[in-house]
Amino acid sequence: MTQDTFLTGITTTGTPHIGNYVGAIRPGIEASKDLDTGHFYFLADYHSLAKNEDPDRIGQSTLEIAAAWMALGLDTEHAYFYRQSDVPEILELTWILHGMTAKGLMNRAHSYKASVQANVEGGDKDPDKGVTMALFSYPILMAADILMFKSTKVPVGQDQKQHVEMARDIAQRFNHNYGDTFVLPEAVIGEDTAILKGLDGRKMSKSYNNTIPLFAPEKKLRKLIMKIKTNSLEPGEPKDTADSTLFDIYKAFATSAETTAVAQAYADGIAWGQMKQQLFEYINEHIKPAREEYERLISNPAVVEAELKKGAERARQLSVPYLAQIRDAIGIRKLG
Ligand code: TRP
Repeated sequence: MTQDTFLTGITTTGTPHIGNYVGAIRPGIEASKDLDTGHFYFLADYHSLAKNEDPDRIGQSTLEIAAAWMALGLDTEHAYFYRQSDVPEILELTWILHGMTAKGLMNRAHSYKASVQANVEGGDKDPDKGVTMALFSYPILMAADILMFKSTKVPVGQDQKQHVEMARDIAQRFNHNYGDTFVLPEAVIGEDTAILKGLDGRKMSKSYNNTIPLFAPEKKLRKLIMKIKTNSLEPGEPKDTADSTLFDIYKAFATSAETTAVAQAYADGIAWGQMKQQLFEYINEHIKPAREEYERLISNPAVVEAELKKGAERARQLSVPYLAQIRDAIGIRKLG
């Protein structure tokens, strides 16, 4: 029986927010405590090229995301924790996989299709306006990330499921052509409860600008929580926990006994202001020790850099020999 290997990438375009924490960082760190399974968590910095991000922003985001995982206690002796760009074999594999990827498959990628549709709807003559090849072949880079480390399980959000299926398709085609080389991955989709809503009640996402940064300083955290959208029910009026962003966030952090108590407070008509204060205090207490460590790391980027370099070195012990095998399979070989 082979053990599962979990792998997931984080694009380096934003500041970690509580939605990332609840949906990806916390479950990732928890899962990686299982020493019988393999775990790969990496910063997908080359993926950010697809969106032509501001170069300074990419560096800052890399530092913030890496510091967040470290501050929250990821065991980097067991889990592989690295930056994609520090493992050049991934890029080499990306090109190799281009040879096994039908263009038609990429035409069907949701993210590409969404860009085309936006152009068409905007009345543009060129449906591919603004679409770079990095955007178009983004799923191939992602397939290389996944296949490079023989991952079997890929925890992602629903929006990335198709990409994992494409990685599987590409791997299958390669295996069919060149012989059994790649392990076929499978997406693992987090439960819906793990998707937090943001300040305005929509999914918490950088693109909606409605996030609560995980390590926002105390004052800022309080200010943001006070901004969370509620309805106009008065203090004393019973409130519904369904569809309450405040309740959902509280629930994501609290124990089930604490959550039950808050549900009772809703039924008893807790004032929104009081609920916000309670939520703020809860998150603030919960996050405080990690926030101190996070701030220490942010002001010592060399510590984070060293950790990522160490992770890449470990990862390359796997990727270098495996890539040699893959090159051999496709006929890129020494002459004598
Ligand atoms: N595309 C993913 C996202 O936007 C990030 C990512 C890059 C990834 N490479 C990956 C996720 C490999 C899982 C596996 O969220």
